[in-house]
Amino acid sequence: MHIEREIQKAAEILADAGNAVASCGAGISAESGIATFRDVGGVWDRMNPAEVGTTQGLIDTLNRDAGKLVPFFLELLGAFEQAHPNPAHKALAELENMGILQTVVTQNIDNLHLEAGNTDVIEVHGNGFRLACISCSYTESRDRRELVSEIRVAIECLSEHSLNTIMTIMPTCSRCGALMRPDVVMFGEMVKDIPRAFEAARKSDVMLAIGTSGVVYPAAYLPFEAKEAGARVIVVNPNENPFSQISDAYIPMNAGEAMPRIVETVKGLKQKTPVS
Ligand code: APR
Repeated sequence: MHIEREIQKAAEILADAGNAVASCGAGISAESGIATFRDVGGVWDRMNPAEVGTTQGLIDTLNRDAGKLVPFFLELLGAFEQAHPNPAHKALAELENMGILQTVVTQNIDNLHLEAGNTDVIEVHGNGFRLACISCSYTESRDRRELVSEIRVAIECLSEHSLNTIMTIMPTCSRCGALMRPDVVMFGEMVKDIPRAFEAARKSDVMLAIGTSGVVYPAAYLPFEAKEAGARVIVVNPNENPFSQISDAYIPMNAGEAMPRIVETVKGLKQKTPVS
């Protein structure tokens, strides 16, 4: 594997593209300080998905032993609070500005693609900075800082108070008065905007699979769907993953390093190509 050659190949593919789609996982936010799920030391290395990955599991764990979740929840919250778009997020926004990339499909809930400047972002697992009413369909986006401090207060209360007490300080729906919860998809819940994500994949001329282990469906189907519809596939991931076999270019590097180099190479190619 010659990385320079793969970066050149990826750039040549993108230089000809006009309808690229990026399908991103937790790996693209790793260099923003947010832990991935399945890497060593990741979220599922430290927390049991059965205890915190489903709504019922989380409620049962909070009722049974809320205090044990506090340190890890505060650590995760701190990472979300400090996180900013890294060079990989910014590279995707640049590709959109160049008219190459149309849509980002992300499994991440950290809002970093929107903050980087991409305008068509399909958040299939939701957004941690948007609240959703548990009863009606009302949702509202919240200021990152404000919401983080509210959540921090609730988490810190978990050590002394019961979940029922915490519920009394949770935000309520301005439309129907029911409780609001983070608008994120837990295991077993319906993912969001999947038909639109599959349509984008099928229409894409290039699919970038960045920082995802490709083990969670239906999002993991997207690069295969794009390939089947004739798109070329570029994979950016330092570790082996299911998409390497269908890739037309595979860059085994951290996204924060690889993506800016790919975009700079695309710019160089564009400068050499006379505008027709
Ligand atoms: N740059 C690019 N890729 C990276 C980087 C990096 N700096 N660091 C790690 N990776 C890769 C890892 O090699 C791994 O393949 O990112 C991938 C992260 O995989 P997961 O932790 O499984 O995250 P993801 O694929 O997004 O998980 C999907 O699973 O638990 C659910 O809802 C959760 O959205 C999540 C879903």
